[in-house]
Amino acid sequence: MKIAVGCDHGGLNLKGQVIRAIIDNSHEYIDFGTDTLDSVDYPDYAEKVALAVINGQADKGILLCGTGIGISIAANKFKGIRCAHVTDAFSAQMCVEHNNANIMAMGGRISDSSDAYDFTTKYLKASFAGGRHDIRVKKIELIEDKNFK
Ligand code: RB5
Repeated sequence: MKIAVGCDHGGLNLKGQVIRAIIDNSHEYIDFGTDTLDSVDYPDYAEKVALAVINGQADKGILLCGTGIGISIAANKFKGIRCAHVTDAFSAQMCVEHNNANIMAMGGRISDSSDAYDFTTKYLKASFAGGRHDIRVKKIELIEDKNFK
């Protein structure tokens, strides 16, 4: 898979281990920045990664900000994006198995680098379970169809 990665300054501390986990699991990545600790606005990076996933440039995305909250809220404003804000290993796996998440968001002021490596590995190894979960994800798509302009 090709994984789009984006972060603001608050999530930059996790990006190295996220990329390391992507490489160690034999996937490719596209790095949409940021690359310095200069203050930037997380919606700009959420947009880059969300569009890469929607347009098929990437199969999945990983977003990082201070908490993972702002960047996940922004990503979820794009139709077709299911961005899961993850702070534990179980959720990193379940967000794919049950929710077919196509972006995972983590917080650089919540998780440490070794957590980020672990969560990324679990997210990449997980597969959507389908079945009853597919019915539920399709209901989310119906909500999008009704409410997105
Ligand atoms: C930036 O200071 C911080 O607000 C941002 O990284 C993120 O935590 C927002 O949700």
